[in-house]
Amino acid sequence: MIKLSYNIENYRKDLLDLVSPGDTVIELGCHVGGTTKLIASKCNVIAIDNSPEAVDEMAKLNVEFISGDVRLHDIIAEVFKITQKCDVLAIDLGGGYHPDTAFKVFYIWSSTFKPKHSLIRNRGILEFFNSAKSTEKEHVSAKGYLESYHDSGIPPQIKEFELWTPSLKK
Ligand SMILES: C[S@@+](CC[C@H](N)C(=O)[O-])C[C@H]1O[C@@H](n2cnc3c(N)ncnc32)[C@H](O)[C@@H]1O
Repeated sequence: MIKLSYNIENYRKDLLDLVSPGDTVIELGCHVGGTTKLIASKCNVIAIDNSPEAVDEMAKLNVEFISGDVRLHDIIAEVFKITQKCDVLAIDLGGGYHPDTAFKVFYIWSSTFKPKHSLIRNRGILEFFNSAKSTEKEHVSAKGYLESYHDSGIPPQIKEFELWTPSLKK
């Protein structure tokens, strides 16, 4: 299942509804752990954020925290070394964050980890989803990733990050 939200309370409720005890959750954009705290006691959480504010606060929680930019291949590779299992992928880079980048992050991470469920907190993606009307019904995914692309997402296309995020400096 793929769930979209903008309101942070809905994002948190959706996450709590989807996780089961013992699940592995990859959380992108954890900030200081406001959402992480709600699930840390019942799940294995790997949380990533590039904000300096996150470092000390996340160290207080019993989760694996990586300080880094989720657009970078090295960060995905680091997480992949820790786990290849992901039950839930939760993405909150900021509700108003550019939807193209948020979608790209969803596409690359979900293609890599094949989560059962993905949650994306992003206003633009939600607005697009709520507004678009499709003329074809056959492309639907029951998983937390886009099933029609399956294994075609990574790794060569990961280079596209540089095109989609011009502010990203190496
Ligand atoms: C709205 S906050 C997340 C709030 C958090 N999910 C919660 O429930 O309290 C968005 C976070 O995304 C992080 N972020 C934005 N872009 C990022 C990126 N490219 N890599 C890693 N973290 C990023 C920001 O540092 C910020 O902490």
